[in-house]
Amino acid sequence: MAQMSIEVRPLTVELAPAFRSAISSTFGYDADLEDPGAAAHFEALFELDRMFPVFDGNEVVATGGDFGFQMAVPGEQQLSTSGLTIVTVRPTHTRQGALTMMMREHFARARERGEPLSALWASEFPIYGRFGYGPSGSLKEIRIDARQAGRGGREEGVTVRLVDVDEAKKLLPGIYAAIQPTRPGMYIRSGAWWEHRHFRDPEKHRGGASALRFAVAEAKGEPVGYVFYRQKASWDQLTEGEIHIREMMPVTDAAYRALWHFIVGIDLFPIVKYWNNPVDDPLEFLFHDGRAIRTKASDALWTRLVDVPAALRARRYSGDGAVTIHVADSFCDWNDGSYRIEVDDGAATCERVTSAPEVVMPASTLGALYMGGRNARALARVGLLEGDAGAIGKLDTLFRSYPAPWCPEIF
Ligand SMILES: CC(C)(COP(=O)(O)OP(=O)(O)OC[C@H]1O[C@@H](n2cnc3c(N)ncnc32)[C@H](O)[C@@H]1OP(=O)(O)O)[C@@H](O)C(=O)NCCC(=O)NCCS
Repeated sequence: MAQMSIEVRPLTVELAPAFRSAISSTFGYDADLEDPGAAAHFEALFELDRMFPVFDGNEVVATGGDFGFQMAVPGEQQLSTSGLTIVTVRPTHTRQGALTMMMREHFARARERGEPLSALWASEFPIYGRFGYGPSGSLKEIRIDARQAGRGGREEGVTVRLVDVDEAKKLLPGIYAAIQPTRPGMYIRSGAWWEHRHFRDPEKHRGGASALRFAVAEAKGEPVGYVFYRQKASWDQLTEGEIHIREMMPVTDAAYRALWHFIVGIDLFPIVKYWNNPVDDPLEFLFHDGRAIRTKASDALWTRLVDVPAALRARRYSGDGAVTIHVADSFCDWNDGSYRIEVDDGAATCERVTSAPEVVMPASTLGALYMGGRNARALARVGLLEGDAGAIGKLDTLFRSYPAPWCPEIF
């Protein structure tokens, strides 16, 4: 058999169907190449010059690309972030370096574009650590039995109103935009993103449940939160229906309480499921019986510093102090070295130094710590960083932030 030779080449309009077909066949669904709506959907979301297909001759054998996000990082800062997406390698071409080739391309492009951070959701935990990513955001998948939790709670001063999709299109983006800067891991959504990622609701995406329902919380006539969800009726057991929450976004604490009381109070639908509740969510305290909430935790957002000093300067820290770290980074070797981080009133300078580091870590550990949701002392316990206990404690204090990083959607 001839030696296989693969290379990254630009994606053209003509090749877009082959590219879409390669993505779908590896992920196990069928790209609807005859449907102009599906093609328009692809074009609206993916920028051709941000895609990096891998070819074997004329065949697309691997796919990858990225989104240009403005992502919130700790301290309500926005950082240009490259969101890695649609990574697939055809089963005929796996374990021959196609992913490694795409990762090099992705980081080179992010660096050229001035995007100091890369982020992704991983299909499998073991894939991305070798490329310098660490799991920085987590999620809690929850299932509530509303009958056990306790229904009937009310929140004075907040009303919840069901709206149709046209009104949802007017109200939801503004509510989301009010929350986005405050939560590391959330990014700014464009109009096209809203339309194609959230309001587009083809029947084949519903999994046997209803169309999307939208509820908006209002205080003094102003929108202060939303939830959107599907209903899954149980026809043989009418009182066992399910609510599947897609996204819950309360701006205020009162809206948070009002939206949860609303969602657990829907008659005939006592089983409430949310695939992606934030890990720091205190929901068990809201109800009479917190054990009515069953929880499964999982890694969610993964991050990787493409430009270490730029990313470290971009976020805010807790308090004051200084620490010298060494980052071992053989994949993005421009980062490899020691850095002095000096924090004054939450803002940091970060310079490359030659002095002895206090804490040593691989790029993937820094990726896990960066968003503020990980405990450096806990990571030291499993050998993900090394140094004296005092310096690790200081690093921990500086880097941790509230609220916990959380990304509301898979991209
Ligand atoms: C995961 C996937 C993209 C890997 O692509 P690939 O081209 O085979 O990866 P590479 O050949 O560049 O492998 C690079 C290294 O990662 C390792 N690796 C690759 N996939 C891995 C996996 N799923 N689990 C553990 N290690 C993996 C390889 O063994 C190799 O290690 P080595 O350098 O020590 O030899 C591919 O298997 C795939 O398309 N899977 C299905 C779709 C998917 O899960 N995509 C990811 C979406 S987030």
